[in-house]
Amino acid sequence: MKRTSPSLIINQDLLDELMEQTHLLKHYKEMIDKNTIVSITDKNGFITYISEAFEKVSGYSKQEAVGQTHALFRHPDTPKEFYTDMWNTLKTVQKWDGEVKNRDKNRNAYWLRLHIEYNRDCKGNFIGYSATGHDITNKIHLETLTKELEYRVSTEVERNRLQTTQMLEQSRLAQMGEMISMIAHQWRQPLASISAISSVLTLDMMMDNYKKEFFEERLNAISDLAQHLSLTIDDFRSFFKEDKEKAQATWEMITEGSLGIIEPTLQTQNITVKRLYESNEVLYTYTNEIRQVLLNIFKNAEDIFLEKKIENAIIWVRSYQKKGMSCLSIEDNAGGISEELLIKIFDPYFSTKEKKDGTGLGLYMSKTIIEEHCKGNLSVHNTINGACFEIILPI
Ligand SMILES: Nc1ncnc2c1ncn2[C@@H]1O[C@H](COP(=O)(O)OP(=O)(O)OP(=O)(O)O)[C@@H](O)[C@H]1O
Ligand SMILES: [Mg+2]
Repeated sequence: MKRTSPSLIINQDLLDELMEQTHLLKHYKEMIDKNTIVSITDKNGFITYISEAFEKVSGYSKQEAVGQTHALFRHPDTPKEFYTDMWNTLKTVQKWDGEVKNRDKNRNAYWLRLHIEYNRDCKGNFIGYSATGHDITNKIHLETLTKELEYRVSTEVERNRLQTTQMLEQSRLAQMGEMISMIAHQWRQPLASISAISSVLTLDMMMDNYKKEFFEERLNAISDLAQHLSLTIDDFRSFFKEDKEKAQATWEMITEGSLGIIEPTLQTQNITVKRLYESNEVLYTYTNEIRQVLLNIFKNAEDIFLEKKIENAIIWVRSYQKKGMSCLSIEDNAGGISEELLIKIFDPYFSTKEKKDGTGLGLYMSKTIIEEHCKGNLSVHNTINGACFEIILPI
């Protein structure tokens, strides 16, 4: 009887297991072929295989790709150095990871994230390269889009900031112009007094009517008037100091600061200002800027009183608390603002005045100061008397 070698006795279970594994391997290979970008080359870099997924993204069939080098997929945008670096890395560490821009058969660009490494046979001999990867074109598009958007947003923000700064500057200049005429107005009377006194003194001197006491008294009066002139200038100067510091003040202090400058002018137009300071908490805010806001609102009231020729013109100023916030309202009796204008008056360059009388920036600047710098709120509504501006600030 012929003896059978033990190594040839194959267990049926083992055979089944082997067939099962082969089946599974085939299935995995198919899956990878369909879904993963794979290319294999020989050791000279000539393509021996590309997966179905690679065929799909590149537009080249297996038959077209096999025998070619990867230059077939190269995008002209990708610099030579990129490939030199890739080869150098592959030679030194025998693998490469990175993102590459390719071009498909229709000359459209696509992006791959790739892992390349050496292939070796079972004895460890180098036989070529294999690359696996996936399509990241959408991700790259999204990144470029995001970058573009970020750039556009940031340039737009910067443009906006510059524009606002320019507008604030323009409005400040316009306000300075108005204040110069207010100074002129306030200087007229003391200057006239100085001139009258000096005429009297000159006359006395001409008539040799020199009385020491009388002269001393008149000269003191001139000196007081000069002092007064100098003080008004100081007031205006401090008003326009570019003071970006926060300071402590009550509504009364802030309001009286503005009224000190504009009230003499208002009085000459027979405009009465009535105050009611109901709440006197100390605020910590940009007081100098708020004084400018109040000046804008008072000036607007004066303008509308003159335009409508209002008799018995009154401005009511009231400080009070509302829902834990500190408020100031400025109301006039000039009849209010029509519905269609109410929504526009805070817009930049909106004005119903003649060009020489208004830039239309006063209320826009006021809203920016109160809401953006001071984190408060500035609004307007009509009352039975006229327009009422309300400033609300956090305490
Ligand atoms: N108290 C008010 N009563 C009625 N209308 C007003 C009142 N205050 C403002 N307005 C209206 O709002 C408009 C805008 O005011 P804003 O202060 O922004 O600009 P302006 O006064 O026209 O010009 P300026 O830049 O010189 O201040 C005014 O032109 C006016 O029509
Ligand atoms: Mg104005």
